[in-house]
Amino acid sequence: MIKIAPSLLSADFAKLGEATSALSNWGADWVHFDVMDGNFVPNITFGPGMCKAIRPYTKLPIDVHLMVEHPSDWIKPFCDAGADWITFHVESSERHLHRALQQIHAAGCKGGVVLCPATPVESCLHLLSECDLVLLMSVNPGFGGQKFIPETLTKIRTLRSAILERGLATEIEIDGGINPETARSCIDAGATILVAGNAVFRADDPKAMIASLRG
Ligand code: DX5
Ligand code: ZN
Repeated sequence: MIKIAPSLLSADFAKLGEATSALSNWGADWVHFDVMDGNFVPNITFGPGMCKAIRPYTKLPIDVHLMVEHPSDWIKPFCDAGADWITFHVESSERHLHRALQQIHAAGCKGGVVLCPATPVESCLHLLSECDLVLLMSVNPGFGGQKFIPETLTKIRTLRSAILERGLATEIEIDGGINPETARSCIDAGATILVAGNAVFRADDPKAMIASLRG
């Protein structure tokens, strides 16, 4: 079953509570929560305080995507703020990726690593047994509304084979430029979770859009 995770980055920031509570009515599976520090990426969004503020507005899992330096400093604060899933970038300043994954589990969340478009899939292979999820970026992180990078499809296929070979149940999440057409290609290549910002929040009918992304 494919899961759709609308990204609050494309919602009206002045109405994040309403946007969060609308998601389950629209048929979404997860809430994607993009955390940017103005350092790892050239943009700033929200911190654990905002995660805590939206938590009462939904029963759906909150999927925190950390686009920050020193991500391990933020694992506990986000778990305490009600996050269910936490992912961080292998390109960040975190030296001990494996330990950071163990910290996510010790804090009571599920999680995994994120790879930017230019980062080879091989960089997560020795971490797979600690990853409940690998997030492959299909745009360069920092902004919504960018165009899907087609090379991502090759990376999805490589990762899908590696997961199958190892007999793991690791989810493959894709983030950036997802629309009904790119969603189809990602699902066919082996993705299981699709993040969608602009496609959902700018749609005339977000519920129909989520249904069509699911395929
Ligand atoms: C980008 C974020 C994405 C973004 C996707 O750095 O990680 O989650 O919200 O937005 P769309 O779906 O509009 O490309
Ligand atoms: Zn994201």
